[in-house]
Parts: sequence; structure tokens; C-alpha cells
Amino acid sequence: MTSTEIDRSTGEALLEGRNLRKTYRLGRDNSVEALRGVDVTIRAGEMVAIMGPSGSGKSTLMHVLGLLHAPDANHGPRPELCFAGRDVASLGEGERTRIRAREMGFVFQDFNLVGTMTALENVTLAAGYAGLGRADGRSKAREALARVGLAERSGHRPNELSGGEQQRVTIARALVSSPALVLADEPTGNLDSARTGEILSIFRRLNRDEGQTLVLVTHDPEVGEACDRVIRMRDGRIA
Ligand SMILES: Nc1ncnc2c1ncn2[C@@H]1O[C@H](COP(=O)(O)OP(=O)(O)OP(=O)(O)O)[C@@H](O)[C@H]1O
Ligand SMILES: [Mg+2]
Repeated sequence: MTSTEIDRSTGEALLEGRNLRKTYRLGRDNSVEALRGVDVTIRAGEMVAIMGPSGSGKSTLMHVLGLLHAPDANHGPRPELCFAGRDVASLGEGERTRIRAREMGFVFQDFNLVGTMTALENVTLAAGYAGLGRADGRSKAREALARVGLAERSGHRPNELSGGEQQRVTIARALVSSPALVLADEPTGNLDSARTGEILSIFRRLNRDEGQTLVLVTHDPEVGEACDRVIRMRDGRIA
């Protein structure tokens, strides 16, 4: 399965989850039911926000949808998770990693950039993980940085960039391999309203021009309003 095989314009389900549960166990009598049975469908080409109170399970859901965590399968109805028509609920770690690297891009609030590398090197590194060759990876990385308006800053290291610029590097990193799906957890959480507007217009453009499907976890009503649809969570369930 490569990006090109995923049809981005059909409006068919790109991600489909049923009976998604996740309990964190901290000790014998101490556990948190972060997801209590979530059914969710994300269609190809959608830009969706996941909103809800702190602790309601948004990040946990994003980790499960992004194949970073497997849903619990040891209690309750059997969990189902399909990505691009393929059952991914019970894949091994190797195959999950491969799908993540090639088909998904992640944007986290605490940037996770490599401090000793320039913006261009950070994005090129991600291109390598996604399977692009050296030269191709570097030119795709340049393109991605240009798309987020950072061509002029590609030689800067993270500590030589503003918060908003660092966030744009992580977005460039997430989209360098043109993944079908971009999952972002509080992508504008550290940014002021002007920078938030810039990031939102980058996401909107990607969604419109490249048919990328975007799932944005956010507390920011401005982000919610910019999306096609808002999924609201409360206490580990879709509200
Ligand atoms: N690794 C973990 N171990 C134990 N409990 C966890 C872990 N991660 C999250 N939790 C708990 O699971 C619940 C859901 O957490 P989650 O991070 O999904 O919430 P959230 O909706 O993203 O919240 P926020 O808006 O504050 O980021 C919370 O009660 C949290 O304390
Ligand atoms: Mg969270």
C-alpha cells in the first residue's frame, strides 16, 4: 500500500474504528479508562477536529487512530480498526510502524525536533523514515519547507527559530511524504492567534489542494470552526 493507492477524493471511510477501548493500568487498584468504547469514522478528504475537556481521551484516541497504541482487546466487544479498507486492529508492531511512516504524518505540540539539526535536516530525516531516497528526500524536504513558508529559514536549528516557525517545521516534517492522513495533537497550542491563523490556512490548503485528510485535536474554538466537522469527546466517549 502506498500513498498513491489511497483515493483521497471519494469521501469513503479512510479510518473506521469500532469498540475502541483503552485502559491505562498504573497498579492493582489504580486504572484509568481513557477510552470507553468509541465508534468513529473519518472520511477521505475530511478535515476534522476532536474537541472536549482535558482528560476526556482525545490524545488517547489520536494515538489509537494513528496506530501508536493498539486498542484493548482483552475485555468487552472486539475492537475493529480499518485504515484505507485494511484491518489494522491486530497488526504487529513492524507493520504498524511501516504504515505510520508511509501513510501518516504526526504533528505534536511539543515539537520533538532534533536540536542539533537544521530545519532542512530535520525534515529530510523524516523523508528517509518514510522511505524516500537521499536526493529525493532532500528535495521533498525543501518543497515541504517552502509550502509552510520557511524556505528562508531551512538552515536554522530549532533554537534559532520562533515557536511558530518550529511548529511549521513539524508540519513540513509531517507532510514531506505526502501522507494520506495527518494527525495533529494541539497543533496550535503554543501559538498566538495570528500564528494559529497561519497554521490553519496551511492545513486548509493541504486539505483542499492535495486532498489530505486531517484530524486535529484542539481546545481552540477557532480551530474547530475552521474544520468541516467537530467530534466531541467526554469521559472517554464520543459525546
Ligand atoms: N500513559 C498514561 N498512563 C496513565 N493514565 C493516562 C496515560 N495517558 C493518559 N492517561 C489518563 O487517561 C485519560 C485521558 O487522557 P488523554 O491524554 O487522552 O486526555 P486528553 O483529552 O487528550 O486531555 P488534554 O486535553 O488534557 O490533553 C486522563 O484521565 C489521563 O490522566
Ligand atoms: Mg491531550
